[in-house]
Amino acid sequence: MTSCRICGGAVGELLDLGRQPSANRFLSPEEAPQEYLFRLAIGACDTCTMVQLMEDVPQEVRYHPAYRYLASGSALHRKFFAGEARRLLETELTGPDPFIVEIGCNDGVLLEHIAQAGVRHLGVEPAASVAALAEAKGVTVRNSFFDDVTAAEIRTGRGADVIYGANTICHIAYQDALFRGVDTLLAPDGVFVMVEPYLGTIVHGMAFDQIYDEHVYYFTAHSVRAMARTFGFELVDVEDVPLHGGEIRYTLARPGRRPIRPAVADMLAREQSSGLIERDTLARFARAVAQIREDLVDLLRGLRAEGRTVVGYGAPGKTATVTTYCGIGPDLLPFTCDSTPAKQGLLVPGSHIPVLPPAEFEAARPDYALLFAWNHAEEIMAKEKAFRDRGGRWIRYVPRVRVD
Ligand code: SAM
Ligand code: TMP
Ligand code: ZN
Repeated sequence: MTSCRICGGAVGELLDLGRQPSANRFLSPEEAPQEYLFRLAIGACDTCTMVQLMEDVPQEVRYHPAYRYLASGSALHRKFFAGEARRLLETELTGPDPFIVEIGCNDGVLLEHIAQAGVRHLGVEPAASVAALAEAKGVTVRNSFFDDVTAAEIRTGRGADVIYGANTICHIAYQDALFRGVDTLLAPDGVFVMVEPYLGTIVHGMAFDQIYDEHVYYFTAHSVRAMARTFGFELVDVEDVPLHGGEIRYTLARPGRRPIRPAVADMLAREQSSGLIERDTLARFARAVAQIREDLVDLLRGLRAEGRTVVGYGAPGKTATVTTYCGIGPDLLPFTCDSTPAKQGLLVPGSHIPVLPPAEFEAARPDYALLFAWNHAEEIMAKEKAFRDRGGRWIRYVPRVRVD
């Protein structure tokens, strides 16, 4: 039995996705034989409801110097974070000499706008590869993991008006030291804003490929409220945001310092009525995931038998989960393509499917394309209109397997 990383309660297993790699650790062919693998499974805490990995991967394995994830990789992300920067500059960062710290600033997709506005900021980013890209945009970066020790070293004056983390907080196994760090660093009336994947999107939208080593926690308003309380904070606001198929922006503050917005009670009620925090719902989700595997593998095998060509499109972290879990290797899918130069020429972790530049997609003229970057469907389908025009078909597997 695993005990809850947040409250120490018992965690009951929900879904086992098998032996899996670190999802953003793209490999050269030489590295493939010694790949790091672990058992990818999630469970829910009986006490605080937090859904979490049963086993985790050391953070140094996940966020290594050549970490490949680029936050600026899509127009959707660039637009969203430009909007976040604008909103923060107009609301929380208006006092004298405001200060914002971003945990996991990656390539500076948010902080570049803060830097351009001349506002004091610091990005804390352990992956040297992406930290250097942020610095090149004029962002001040500290190349390290964020925790209580880092926070004490960063703190000056009254502390930070905003501590911000997007797609990063759920990656941090040690929430106790994280929150101690936030407590050390945050100004008395400051806010801790986190934009993170939502268990509701995963469960109701069947986005099981969001489950991978980097996502240690799968948040809900229920579990974030409980976690905030455990570590001396309060959940004061929640809002839907359009990233990764539907995420939530959680705003936390010190208890009593900010009014609790009605959206919090609304979301808690929605989670109750939709059964999101009930074990039965999660068990149904696990069964439906197995069905997707069966349907997708049947479809790909059938197409191969008919002599149709199928290649992948995109190589987000999600690709490793779905291909490894389904046992889809280069025999069923000879390659996938991705616009991130640092992924090209390497292999998808786990399934070892080659990643090629998008130009190869055009050149191969496949009959079908399996869309891994499904959260960017609109942008990609617009870009690849010629594929559809000449009769190419898109295969999706979330929320169920279908061919468009
Ligand atoms: N914020 C960007 C976004 O939303 O697109 C980047 C998200 S990326 C998936 C997660 C980032 O968090 C990575 O750049 C990773 O190196 C960083 N990270 C992981 N653990 C961290 C920690 N303990 N402290 C600070 N950053 C961390
Ligand atoms: P993300 O959803 O985790 O940001 O990953 C999306 C991946 O898809 C990323 O590796 C970049 C890739 N991609 C393309 O290859 N072409 C595109 O047009 C877009 C939008 C993304
Ligand atoms: Zn718990």
